[in-house]
Amino acid sequence: MEIFHIGAECYPVAKVGGLADVIGSLPKYQSSEENKVRVVIPCYQTAFRSENDFECVHWGKLKLGNFNFPFSVLKETSNKLGFELYLIEIPELFDRPNIYNYRDDIERFLSFQIATLDWILGRSSIPDIIHCHDHHTGLIPFMKKYCPKYDKLKNIPTLITIHNGLYQGIFTFNKLYYLPEFNLINIKELEWGNCINSLATAIKCADEVTTVSPSYLNEINHSDNGLETLFQRVRHKSRGILNGIDVDVWNPNSDPMVEIHYSIENFVEGKQRNKEQLCALFNMNPTKPLFSFIGRLYNEKGADLLPKVVTSALTTFENEINILILGYGDVEIENQLTQLLSVYNGKYNVYIGYNEELAHKVYASSDFILIPSRTEPCGLNQMYALRYGTIPIVRRTGGLKDTIIDYEDNGNGICHDEASVEDVCDSIQRAVDLFKNKENIKQIRIKGMSEDHSWKNVSQEYLELYNLIIAKKYES
Ligand code: GLC
Repeated sequence: MEIFHIGAECYPVAKVGGLADVIGSLPKYQSSEENKVRVVIPCYQTAFRSENDFECVHWGKLKLGNFNFPFSVLKETSNKLGFELYLIEIPELFDRPNIYNYRDDIERFLSFQIATLDWILGRSSIPDIIHCHDHHTGLIPFMKKYCPKYDKLKNIPTLITIHNGLYQGIFTFNKLYYLPEFNLINIKELEWGNCINSLATAIKCADEVTTVSPSYLNEINHSDNGLETLFQRVRHKSRGILNGIDVDVWNPNSDPMVEIHYSIENFVEGKQRNKEQLCALFNMNPTKPLFSFIGRLYNEKGADLLPKVVTSALTTFENEINILILGYGDVEIENQLTQLLSVYNGKYNVYIGYNEELAHKVYASSDFILIPSRTEPCGLNQMYALRYGTIPIVRRTGGLKDTIIDYEDNGNGICHDEASVEDVCDSIQRAVDLFKNKENIKQIRIKGMSEDHSWKNVSQEYLELYNLIIAKKYES
């Protein structure tokens, strides 16, 4: 089977969040003699692009309304990622350092989708399945189905995976002329809330819809991202498939980014030694429990609670705990967290920025990881934490609910119901108590470290789904 994964991010090529981790690892686990897996993302100005070798496999000129953009398709030559990587190079739109948040994001990602389809159209073989990820690729199922230009691709089955339904790629009908020509009878497929909504379009036009956890699928049928009724309508072709993690990259016993390697046999000493080094770096006391937060500083992740959590917890447990925050995002949250530095010097620190290596070190060194998300379609941090013997403290939502069970129910973590300062602080209180009971905490960590959250089974589930969609297409 020839499988195309199309998305905006892919680790280690270009990463903002978990989307990159998934697109950078699921394909690796799907690749085999029988399954040829290709990953297609835009060509940003990243270190990976400049430090690796590529060959140009296609040139073209894409048409976006009245604009014409030259583009090329670059194939990474060493195949070192475990799948074939293709970068769509559109210099005018993507030769920039960041992945998102430009004023012309709509033009950028629409051009990316058009260029990708133009290239696929010109190839000698037709993929068996196109797997789209998030709204940046949401118009592909529509265009290949309804634009006569892509008639040859019309019958390729498509799947959309929703990693985050809050972002939908919405734009007004003034930009309709950007799309390649199609019969206007189908215009309704593009519309949601009187706008063109890329994610809604994908949900309507793809053969199957998946979310990255079963609980998130249930939640989006009711919660307020505006697509609830649409989700209810497509329930028959939707399913929640929990993400896996790349257990080769995330292995405390071989992780090149971690100073002292350890396994389930010797994690107590291993983690403590890592913690000593990290605490020296961040001016904290390694004999006290270390609570960390790693992630984007946005309200959806509950990051707005952090300044108050730090204040409240460090007032209550004055000299009993350390808190370390690693992330970036909302400037106001960044500023509030930075201001606390002078107040809680010696027991609190914050690193504003994205730093993959530091993140690995923090997982290896922390005792607890705080994940107070308001919404969490899956969440990978809790699974990385479990693997590194770090106890997740999570709000019961989405994928967090599907992976973490409170230790009092014989589980692997600490859970609370609300994304509130009180609930997070209650959990910290429980964690502080737990930390005093060395044997108890050790058993909980062993439980987490023994769990298998790898892609092995999950990638199989996706392959079965592809086969099902292909079979259905064939029948009809
Ligand atoms: C998004 C979601 C996160 C999920 C990740 C990978 O970043 O917010 O919950 O784990 O995608 O699917």
